[in-house]
Amino acid sequence: MLYYIDIVDACNLRCRTCVRGQRKVKNSQEKMSFSRFKKIVVKAKEKGATTVGLYNWTEPFLHPEINKFVKEVVDNNIHCVLSSNFSLSEMSTLIDTLEAGVSELSVSVSGFTNDIYQINHSGGDIEVVKRNLTDLAQYLSGSSLDIKVYVKYLEFDYNREQISAFREFSESLGLNFQVYPASGDPLTPVLNDFSTTDEITVDVREIGSSEKSLNPCALLFDVIALDCKGDAYLCCAYGNFENCRIGNFLEMDYEKMMLSRLFHPKCRTCTLFRRNPTNRDLTDIGRWFGKSFFGEDFIGLDSESSRKQSVVYSTEATESELENEALKRSITEYENKIAALNRSVVKRDADIAVLNKRIGDIMSSTSWRISSPLRLLKGILQKDS
Ligand SMILES: C[S@@+](CC[C@H](N)C(=O)[O-])C[C@H]1O[C@@H](n2cnc3c(N)ncnc32)[C@H](O)[C@@H]1O
Ligand code: SF4
Ligand code: SF4
Repeated sequence: MLYYIDIVDACNLRCRTCVRGQRKVKNSQEKMSFSRFKKIVVKAKEKGATTVGLYNWTEPFLHPEINKFVKEVVDNNIHCVLSSNFSLSEMSTLIDTLEAGVSELSVSVSGFTNDIYQINHSGGDIEVVKRNLTDLAQYLSGSSLDIKVYVKYLEFDYNREQISAFREFSESLGLNFQVYPASGDPLTPVLNDFSTTDEITVDVREIGSSEKSLNPCALLFDVIALDCKGDAYLCCAYGNFENCRIGNFLEMDYEKMMLSRLFHPKCRTCTLFRRNPTNRDLTDIGRWFGKSFFGEDFIGLDSESSRKQSVVYSTEATESELENEALKRSITEYENKIAALNRSVVKRDADIAVLNKRIGDIMSSTSWRISSPLRLLKGILQKDS
């Protein structure tokens, strides 16, 4: 489970394809308190967090103590990832933050020269970004830190021509370069199809009109987004708007939070990121319902097999263990089916061989050789008469 947690409530830039950049979500001075953060990490871990990103709709390096937050995540044996615009003239916390144990750092860019970069990254300066990247590369070359740094090039139609220049620059510094298809269009700003406080109304006729509109969404089942107050939102795709606020992560019962997200009207007509339900999805839904309606002791559904499955999940098996178990079960099932098919093919081949031999024996027998011309003659006579 991936948690995106904003530790500040602001960004220094005004990206034209971002709800924060366009101030659809306004900047404030608010920051997450460290004591609240520690409690959130404990609960997130209890509820299956494997990775925490200290960003969602903000710039994480605006928090002056970001390194402390990273360390707290890592001390709880959870991966910590960051994404930054790096367009900050002062990054005095960068090295301490990396040394606190960041596993992955993405640096988002959208052009190699300012005339292109600033089309989307309004308010930013790509020369500052390049300088910070150069300092970072220099530091990494003399350090033994195990951290993956990606220069994340957000690809739009108008900035494709500068991809190769940025790739060359990144590779010359020994940094990974990644082209990422961007959503939205900075040339026709912005964005979001509903305002921050409007009630969301859904036309019931639309529900189920898309084949997958009732299927699980990866952003709902695998990702949880919290703002710097610790409030949980529907998902990380639409921005922290009031009408997508679910409740406070620490104060709210986890299962109720998940169910409230599951039944959120926005999800019913949104067609993003759907997948066919996995065993894990179904068991999760069962568990959320079970816990909400029947309390702590409820372990699952009725049949013996689902009871067993629920027990496995409640032992906090990791996602990869669960995937592997499910995978192993379906591989064994298919292997059994193939073996049964092979057995029936072999048996049919044997039956055909026996039949062939019997036909061969009959046709080469004396009685067949004598009787066949007579049977032929009888047929001709019957036809003539
Ligand atoms: C909203 S940003 C917040 C983190 C940080 N301020 C940054 O820009 O990297 C979260 C992620 O969204 C990505 N992002 C920003 N604009 C995007 C766009 N138009 N399409 C797709 N991803 C985008 C960024 O690369 C970043 O990894
Ligand atoms: S830097 Fe990140 S958070 Fe800030 S406006 Fe751009 S995409 Fe949004
Ligand atoms: S279906 Fe849409 S609204 Fe619902 S969680 Fe997924 S991306 Fe968000």
